[in-house]
Amino acid sequence: MKKILILNGSISGYQGNTQHLIDLVQEKIESCEVLHLKDLMEKKITTGELKNKLKKAEGFIFTSGTYWDSWGSPMQNFLEVATEFEASDIFMGKPAAVIITMHSVGGKGVLSRLQGVLNTLGMLIPPMSGMVYSLAGHLALQAESSFAEDFWSLEDTNVIVHNLMASLGNKKYQSWPVDHKDPKRIWIK
Ligand SMILES: Cc1cc2nc3c(=O)[nH]c(=O)nc-3n(C[C@H](O)[C@H](O)[C@H](O)COP(=O)(O)O)c2cc1C
Repeated sequence: MKKILILNGSISGYQGNTQHLIDLVQEKIESCEVLHLKDLMEKKITTGELKNKLKKAEGFIFTSGTYWDSWGSPMQNFLEVATEFEASDIFMGKPAAVIITMHSVGGKGVLSRLQGVLNTLGMLIPPMSGMVYSLAGHLALQAESSFAEDFWSLEDTNVIVHNLMASLGNKKYQSWPVDHKDPKRIWIK
C-alpha cells in the first residue's frame, strides 16, 4: 500500500476552501493522511513528529490557498522548518503534487514557485500534477461554453492523483552536496 501525505498550507486549516479539494483527493487514495501545517506553525505538532510523517510518506500532495500572491504562512513556516531535510531520503525522489486555490489572480505563480521549491528540496514533480482551482473558474464553469475544457475543474483532481500514483517507485536519484550546518547562521558581518 502506498502512503500519501497531504500537507495543507492553507491559513484556514480544515475549515477552508482548500479542504474541499483535499476531501476530493482523499476519496481517490486508499492510504493517505492529512497534515494541516497550521498545526505545525502553532506548535501543536513537533518537528520530530513532522519528520516521522514525512519519512513514512512515499509521496506528497501540497495544498494552499493564495494569499496576496503567495502561499499561506503555514506553508512558508513548513518550508523553513523542512529545510534541514533538504536532499535527504525524506524528500529525494518522492513525487509531489500541488493543488492551489484562489479567487481569481496569483495562484498560477504560487503553483509554479512552490513546484520549483519542492523540486529543489529533492522531490519529483510528475507531469500534470499541479492545478489551481479558482472562484473565477468555478463560476465560469456554471455556464455552458466551448471554452470550458480550458478551465481547471474539480475533475482534474483525478489526473493529479493518477499522475502522482504513477510516479511512485524506487527510482535511484543522486543528490548534489548540501550544507547541513545551521542554515540560519550569519554569512555577512
Ligand atoms: C488574506 C487573503 C488574501 C488573499 N489573496 C488572494 C489573492 O492574492 N489572489 C486570489 O485570487 N485570491 C486571494 N484570496 C482568496 C483565497 O485565495 C481563496 O479564498 C482560497 O480558496 C483560500 O483558501 P482557504 O479557504 O483554504 O484558506 C485571499 C484570501 C485571503 C483571506
